[in-house]
Amino acid sequence: MTDVGVTDISIYVPSYYLTHQDLAEARGVPVDKFHIGLGNFKMSIIPNWEDSVTMAANAAYQLLMKTGTDPKEIRQMVVSTESGVDYSKPVASYVQELLGIGIRCRIYEVKHACYGGTAGLINSVDRIARTNRESEKALVIMTDIAHYGFENSGEPTQGAGAVAMLVERNPKLFSVDTTQNGVYSKSVFDFWRPSGHVVPIVDGHYSIECYLKALEESAMDLKENLQLNGRRLIETLDYVVYHMPFCNMAKKAHRHFVQLEYKDADNAEREKRFKETFEKMVEPGLFGVREVGNIYTGSVYMGLVSLLESEREEVEGKKVGIFSYGSGCGAEFLICNIKENAQKLIDGLNFKKQLDRRKKISIEHYTHIYSQKPQDVRYFPQEVRHFKDEYTQFVFTGIKDHKRQYV
Ligand code: CAA
Repeated sequence: MTDVGVTDISIYVPSYYLTHQDLAEARGVPVDKFHIGLGNFKMSIIPNWEDSVTMAANAAYQLLMKTGTDPKEIRQMVVSTESGVDYSKPVASYVQELLGIGIRCRIYEVKHACYGGTAGLINSVDRIARTNRESEKALVIMTDIAHYGFENSGEPTQGAGAVAMLVERNPKLFSVDTTQNGVYSKSVFDFWRPSGHVVPIVDGHYSIECYLKALEESAMDLKENLQLNGRRLIETLDYVVYHMPFCNMAKKAHRHFVQLEYKDADNAEREKRFKETFEKMVEPGLFGVREVGNIYTGSVYMGLVSLLESEREEVEGKKVGIFSYGSGCGAEFLICNIKENAQKLIDGLNFKKQLDRRKKISIEHYTHIYSQKPQDVRYFPQEVRHFKDEYTQFVFTGIKDHKRQYV
């Protein structure tokens, strides 16, 4: 069988963050609700010279540079997002121009809430597995701004960022066998953003219920698919990364997974299993969400990047279960098989380094930025030069004649 998967991965986060300490004070909420209750400490804030297009291009630019990939070699580019900038023109088209992706490339945008990133990845892996051209590559990008609005219950779970993955045959970082999966989908109203709404409508507690049900069903489907015949799925995996709208969602998810996997054990035994496995299998993937918040489509893959950077050579040759959930809802449980010798690539992730470059902003500054509309943005190209750094290569300068402008 053809070995296909991800050769390298890049993550991009914008240069500002707000602390949950400052948010809690402004909202008159005990900070422990955010730090202990949700498990989050900082949220990435996107300045007005960035949007889902620039974040996507900034993540993918890093990836092309570090892998030495000629943009003309990319034959499929999928951008998954629920923060699109146009009902018709895909974010992928803007990114094509910014990165210089060639004309012989299939380009499109995918939307299915936070599940969209996984849909883009699975489809790209399948495309590369079937192509006649050995050297064909696909670029999968997930880019989102999680924005719920001021004083909404989802406000402390906000974040922004993008993840880019290079998919090819004989991948260097991890393989994905798309036949070894478990899926679930069902129409529900847990979180949705009707046309014309700037922020989503969310039934927060119900969304957690829908997420856990989707986890249960996808895990069951994966077990049947792998023909485990009574063996425990959890014992075939070394790590699990869950979709993480906030850090403690991973805790809720893992507790649920352990309960399902050890149905026959008593409570004390299950709690012991939960503690042991959470620390070993889940905790190393959590630092990103604590520092960034939710990045919707890229969230579960930010968890994977966090895991790789925390575990380094420990993760080589290991199996990582990925549980991807998108409201609405759709979910998939898949497995990434990390390659031996992955550490060299892990050294190039630079996620922690990128987080350290960010600037803390005040609650007033956050309020000002998130009260603006894209129509309010107007920069001259020479004004935005100082917004650029090692990671931010592309900047949004405003809208002219209904066309978004980038430099
Ligand atoms: N000290 C310590 N803990 C405290 C506390 C305090 N002073 N006050 C509250 N808490 C705890 C609560 O006990 C609770 O913990 P448990 O869930 O473990 O019981 C936690 O803090 C949160 O408190 P509440 O449930 O009272 O908080 P809330 O009602 O304001 O909202 C939320 C929580 C529903 C997650 C909300 O943030 C939300 O709507 N988020 C957006 C939707 C979301 O993220 N859904 C997740 C599943 S859907 C999905 O995954 C798709 C997606 O990306 C959106």
